[in-house]
Amino acid sequence: MAQNKRLFAWFAAPPLPLTPSPTRDEGESEPPAIPAPFPPLWGKGLGIEGQKQKDRQPLGRIDGATKLVGVIGWPVAHSLSPVMHNAAFDALGLNWRYVAMPVRTEDVGAALRGLRALGFQGVNVTVPHKQRVVPHLAGISPEARTLGAVNTLSAGPDGWHGDNTDARGFIRDLIAHGVDVKGKMCLVLGAGGAARAVVYALTAAGGRVAVFNRTHTRALDLVSDLTGLFPGGVLTAHAMAQLGDFVRDGERAPGLIVNTTSVGMWPDAGTSPWPDGLKIPPETVVYDLVYKPLRTRFLEQAESCGARTIDGIGMLVHQGAEALQLWTGQEAPIDVMTGAAREAAASMTESEAANGEKEHQHL
Ligand code: ATR
Repeated sequence: MAQNKRLFAWFAAPPLPLTPSPTRDEGESEPPAIPAPFPPLWGKGLGIEGQKQKDRQPLGRIDGATKLVGVIGWPVAHSLSPVMHNAAFDALGLNWRYVAMPVRTEDVGAALRGLRALGFQGVNVTVPHKQRVVPHLAGISPEARTLGAVNTLSAGPDGWHGDNTDARGFIRDLIAHGVDVKGKMCLVLGAGGAARAVVYALTAAGGRVAVFNRTHTRALDLVSDLTGLFPGGVLTAHAMAQLGDFVRDGERAPGLIVNTTSVGMWPDAGTSPWPDGLKIPPETVVYDLVYKPLRTRFLEQAESCGARTIDGIGMLVHQGAEALQLWTGQEAPIDVMTGAAREAAASMTESEAANGEKEHQHL
């Protein structure tokens, strides 16, 4: 019970003012304008002839005082996080930039030492390094330790400190959508890394959670790992094949269904984790962590049953907002980040997205 209270306080807590504001000094003069013969700087390259128009994006100011953060993973070229975070820095007037850095598995330790030596303020970590960074940390938050995965590093005086903002990001997005799961039956499809964060968040928020997974043993493992954390919590594991019987049993009508699997993501956008013909009660909220495409087949099935739907952009934004707040001590501009991420996701073509990493729950 005490633990639950602490968790609620944690969800509700304002961002911690960990670092002083890195904004430009008041009254600091603007740098001299670029002389006319020079081409403008562009987001990808320097205005090279023949470059596609859509690649030409003006950069915000970068100078000797610019602070750096970024994401490591493999691959990371199609991450939406740079667009989202840089839009936030611009909106906040912060002289910070966020970059994507592909790092091979065998180079994770060297990369973290190097980023620290270079003065990076923070780092997001995505697949496949979320566990691999742990031995290189000076400290780790209780949530990250419990979830067995780190997605955000902050620079401390003694080294990198690891946190996991996925669970907080998910619950904050539910709150933003006005969804209260307390006492509600929540069905979670999948039992991987993303499911762990979602189940943790839902149980901490007082939901009754049933986990369904293709591989039943994985669902059992997840439930057994998290059950002890929330005495009084209701957490059960099921094989995906049991989903139909569970849903048709009117006694356990779901208030929320969350897809945490990658089923339905490009290039398999025609697929869904939800069985064809299985009705979703219209009063259910259906949440898909997938955002490539934004409108998944699962969400279409839910809509056709009259259910309310939420796509995966919100969790991406809120886990990023939590990280930005940890790094800068400033409240993240959620609307700006949402607009930037949604626009970038919508303009991503299927082939671009399919060549990227599994970003639906990983930045
Ligand atoms: P993530 O970190 O994105 O959650 P993961 O840990 O690899 O990635 O987990 C992927 C999840 O999607 C798992 O629950 C996986 O089910 P299994 O444990 O049975 O592998 C689920 N998943 C992936 N492809 C699937 C498919 N074609 N059908 C059903 N479930 C699938």
